[in-house]
Amino acid sequence: MARVRLLHLSDLHVALRLLRMRSSRFEAHIHHEAVRFVLGLGQQGIDAVLLGGDLGNSGWKEDLDEAKKYVTGPWPPGGIAWPSMSQVGKPLLMLPGNHDRFVAPWLATPGNREFDRVFNPTWTSGRGGVQTFLLPGDDQPLLALVCADFTLAHEHDASHHAGHWGQGRVYPAVLKKLVAETVRCRALPTAPAVAWVVHFAPEFPNLSSTLQLIDEHDLTKAAAQNGIKYIFCGHTHIVGHGPSPTQPAVTIVCAGSVSCVNSGIDTSLHVLDFDVDAGQIQRLARLDFYWQPGATPGTGTFVQKHSKPPWP
Ligand SMILES: [Fe+2]
Repeated sequence: MARVRLLHLSDLHVALRLLRMRSSRFEAHIHHEAVRFVLGLGQQGIDAVLLGGDLGNSGWKEDLDEAKKYVTGPWPPGGIAWPSMSQVGKPLLMLPGNHDRFVAPWLATPGNREFDRVFNPTWTSGRGGVQTFLLPGDDQPLLALVCADFTLAHEHDASHHAGHWGQGRVYPAVLKKLVAETVRCRALPTAPAVAWVVHFAPEFPNLSSTLQLIDEHDLTKAAAQNGIKYIFCGHTHIVGHGPSPTQPAVTIVCAGSVSCVNSGIDTSLHVLDFDVDAGQIQRLARLDFYWQPGATPGTGTFVQKHSKPPWP
C-alpha cells in the first residue's frame, strides 16, 4: 500500500476591493497564516497542495494578481518578497471557481478568462477545461486528480435570475472530456487510481439553488459508471463528506473556505491521506484544521478538530 498526502484548500476569495457579500468576506491575516501552515506542513511529507477554486473574489485581474501573491509568489516578477505557498516546493494544483470567472468585482457576469492568463502555467486548460495532475509526480504516478471547470460560460446558462452568481453547470462537452481523461489516465503504465475534482459541490444537502451545480446528477452518474469513488469540491464554505444521495458508491468530499469568516461557515483547511493499491483508492483519511482566532484581533491559528459526521 502506498500513501499520497494532499493538502486541500478552497475558496480563498482574495480581493483587492472587497465585495461585502455574506459568504465571501475574507481576512488577509488568515491568508498569511494559511501560507505559514502550508509551509509548515511541507516539512511533514505532503505531496501537493490542491486549491479548489475561488482563489480570487472576482476574475478581475487585480484580484487574481493579489491571489497569486499568496499562491505562486510576488507579482510582478521581481516585486517585493511575499511568503507564498509555492515555497513549499511541492506541486500546486488548482482549478477555477465561479468567482474566478466574474467579469469584475462589481459585476458577477460569468465567463472571464483572466484566471487562465494569471495562473498559467499551473492551470493551462482554459474555460471549460479538464486538466490532470499526477501524484506524487509524472514519473511513477499513483494517483491522478482530474479537475474539471464547470463554471458558467454565459449568464443565460444559469437556471434562474441571479443564479449566475453562484451556479455552475455540468456541460456535456466538459463531462465528456472528464470521462475521456479518466480513461486515458487508467491506461498509463502505472495504472494510477483516479479521483475527480470540481469546484461546485454536487448533491450537497440543503444547498441554496443559487449555489447549485446544474445537472449535478449527470456528474455523479458518470462518476459511478466510471468507477470514480471520490469527487473533491468546495464552494459551499461548509465542510461535508458523504455518499452521493443518488450514487452511493461515489463519495463527495467538500472543503470549507480557508479564509472567509462569517457565521455558519467553516473556515478550514484539510489534509487528505490516500492509501492507494492496485490502481484503487483503498482508504481515504481526512484531517480537518479549523481557524481559531487569537485573543488579539488579527491573530489566530489553524487547529485540528475531529471530523464532522457525514454531511452537515
Ligand atoms: Fe464558489
